[in-house]
Amino acid sequence: MSVTVLVGTQWGDEGKGKIIDVLTRDVDMVVRFQGGNNAGHTVEIGNEKYVLHLVPSGIFRPEVVNVIGNGLVVDPIALEDEMRDLEKRNVCVKNVKLSDKAHLIMPYHRLMDAFKESRRAEGSKIGTTNRGIGPAYCDKADRSGIRALEMLDLEKFEARFRAHCAEYNAVFTAGGFQTVDADAEWIKLKNAAKYLQSYIEDTVLCVNKMVKAGKNVLFEGAQGALLDIDHGTYPFVTSSNTTSGGACTGTGLSPRHIEEVYGVMKAYTTRVGEGPFQTELDNEEGVALRKAGNEFGATTGRPRRCGWFDAVASRYSCMVNGVNKLALTKLDVLDNLPLLRICVAYEIDGKRYDEMPSNSELLYKVKPVWENWEGWQESTCNARSWDELPEKARKYLTRMAELVDAQIGIISVGPKREQTFEV
Ligand code: GDP
Ligand code: IMO
Ligand code: MG
Repeated sequence: MSVTVLVGTQWGDEGKGKIIDVLTRDVDMVVRFQGGNNAGHTVEIGNEKYVLHLVPSGIFRPEVVNVIGNGLVVDPIALEDEMRDLEKRNVCVKNVKLSDKAHLIMPYHRLMDAFKESRRAEGSKIGTTNRGIGPAYCDKADRSGIRALEMLDLEKFEARFRAHCAEYNAVFTAGGFQTVDADAEWIKLKNAAKYLQSYIEDTVLCVNKMVKAGKNVLFEGAQGALLDIDHGTYPFVTSSNTTSGGACTGTGLSPRHIEEVYGVMKAYTTRVGEGPFQTELDNEEGVALRKAGNEFGATTGRPRRCGWFDAVASRYSCMVNGVNKLALTKLDVLDNLPLLRICVAYEIDGKRYDEMPSNSELLYKVKPVWENWEGWQESTCNARSWDELPEKARKYLTRMAELVDAQIGIISVGPKREQTFEV
């Protein structure tokens, strides 16, 4: 397996957490490289269900090192809470390493996220997770961000926090918005910083050492390609590079070392938040898919919008990511449907498009060109090999892979570890 990057190929929530957990059987290190606690990665082991936001999904195997890379924006208070919750559930977190270069999400970033969203007109709202992701990346690009290493000197950290707080509060006050209570927030931040200090390291060195030693390292993408700041449905995207290239800049590993790119892809499509969704089923069928797939946000609990598999968008994202193996998930959710559709091209203003246009305004006008597939109408959740799948399901999956120009590596037929097999 050696050096592998795993990414979401749609709008997130493809089942990355589950697949990472399965793959970590053979892995020495799992590394998150972008995003923050906007992510919600679910792992089900036996009767236990965990939702991870910042801690990598390799945490359930005690010998695996779990790195939070420099490309993330980390809310220290949220990370402390998440690690303490895991400890309470007897999950050992001693192998977590936090990059000294990761930028911090501060309480004023969270408020700024809400403030900006409140000022966006209907139709322009992004529907963010309200975790402060965009504003923290803004400060990083503006070169005014606070990094994890600054938590090692509490006196300086406090001074920087209070100075930034005053600047942000002036903007909030001018906009008639609530302000940050710097004294109350500092107490929480100070405690989080004290808790996290011993986990802070130059993770660029640890990642490179592992790779040099020939160990198996797995990079865990968050969100999905269609939410990538450069390649997604801008401006309805997140603020980081969610595609495989982000694994290099977000960890300090050279692209020369990456051998395999896994693309996690749902057998249909979901999106949470605002923005165009070319194959959305804004009807009873969509409601039925949401119910069958239990499509509610792992981070915010919001109902996810559901639709058919979009081969145009997914092919684009497989190309950008260089996906060579697919992990196809949630096949079982389609088990009872008599008819399935795949979108194979777009029609916009009477013109056919075989590739996804860059302009989101055009994406709102898409009329999908459908291919119809007969449903298999039997349960797949106990299948443990390709041969145990109904023939119609095999045909559907084969067509998905053909359309996105990648090979099937893994199939997932339920949320549990054992409901997975290699092809
Ligand atoms: P992630 O953000 O990509 O890690 O995905 P989420 O955890 O947000 O959402 C995926 C949801 O689907 C979780 O509730 C998983 O437990 C569940 N899940 C993952 N794979 C499968 C599968 O093959 N079938 C079913 N029915 N559920 C799955
Ligand atoms: P995982 O890793 C699905 C969406 C939000 C919003 C947009 C911007 O679990 O797949 P942000 O808070 O990042 O500024 O919000 O991105 N979004 C996700 N959607 N899964 C995620 O992560 C997401 N992380 C962000 O809903 O539309
Ligand atoms: Mg998720």
